[in-house]
Amino acid sequence: MAWVAEARQGQARAGWLHTAHGTVPTPTFMPVGTKATVKAMTADAVRATGAGVVLGNTYHLMLRPGAERVAALGGLHKVMDWPGPILTDSGGFQVMSLGALRKLDEDGVTFRSHIDGSPHRLTPESSTAIQHDLDADITMAFDECPALPAPKAVLEASMERSMRWAARSRKAFKARPGYGQFGIVQGGTDRELRLRSIKALVAIGFEGYAIGGLAVGEPQAEMFATLDYTAPALPEDKPRYLMGVGTPDDMLGAVMRGVDMFDCVMPSRAGRTARAYTERGALNLRNARFKDDPRPLSPYEPSPLNRYSRAYLHHLFRTDEILGPMLLTWHNLAYYQRLMRLIRAHVVAGDLEGFAAFLRAQWALGDW
Ligand code: GUN
Repeated sequence: MAWVAEARQGQARAGWLHTAHGTVPTPTFMPVGTKATVKAMTADAVRATGAGVVLGNTYHLMLRPGAERVAALGGLHKVMDWPGPILTDSGGFQVMSLGALRKLDEDGVTFRSHIDGSPHRLTPESSTAIQHDLDADITMAFDECPALPAPKAVLEASMERSMRWAARSRKAFKARPGYGQFGIVQGGTDRELRLRSIKALVAIGFEGYAIGGLAVGEPQAEMFATLDYTAPALPEDKPRYLMGVGTPDDMLGAVMRGVDMFDCVMPSRAGRTARAYTERGALNLRNARFKDDPRPLSPYEPSPLNRYSRAYLHHLFRTDEILGPMLLTWHNLAYYQRLMRLIRAHVVAGDLEGFAAFLRAQWALGDW
């Protein structure tokens, strides 16, 4: 696996991510397919939005259907009909938010399944082995992510444990052409801890570096302030992935600070709850003002979704029809991909600052 830069403007980068399952332009937004499906979408439809990489989750897939079963069925690409690259998260983050009766020790974490209460254990070694079974192009190091705000001593102990886990994850990683593993920077919003975390990860050596522990309740300004010193301290020639982010405005600000990759449930989850992202901000399709609105969601975009009126989408959500979440997920993922394509084009053209001002002005205007 390799990342090659094509252009830079300020801290922002446009590049190419080469993997065993294809090459993807960056910056890129990776739709979340937690349980081996991007909810409400066929893999063909996800591809048609322009997505390059999709995400899978160790935690969910180890519980159901089981990583060995996925391996026996030919791996995650084959199972979910996604021939492109797949990145899997390592499970620690999801255990902390979903698992019951979690018990953390130096070796790993013991927890009960949120589905049936059955006991399970994850360690850096088992998480890495599961991600190999899934056939992830990009494997994530096993880490721990404390909620913010947290006292420095708590952030420090947690970060240091994550760095020891990163070293063990790396040892367990089987290098193969086109495959890679990312270390995850932790340290909350503390500059000294972040820089120490980067030093530890770079000494181990990974194919890419993720920034974890953000978008966990802190204001956007704090996340940006953390990125201001974190992203430029990462190796220049490796991809940088900001985990769990975010809104269109979050991603724009993060690209301008040097981030190349994003994932977030936001566009897909919002789509299922009638929320549409557009170039003029977010709309709620349940709102009565759309009842008789014959216009498409994004009148100026050449999208197959333009054949549907806002009135029809409103009707689908009012009547709880399954097509409503399907169409709005499609719309939101298409919007996120279009946004990334445009941001990338403006990095290459060298006028991202002006384009960012234009985007923000459009979002602030609100709906037509
Ligand atoms: N997803 C969002 N934030 C994080 C993080 O800090 N670690 C991991 N593993 N996944 C995440």
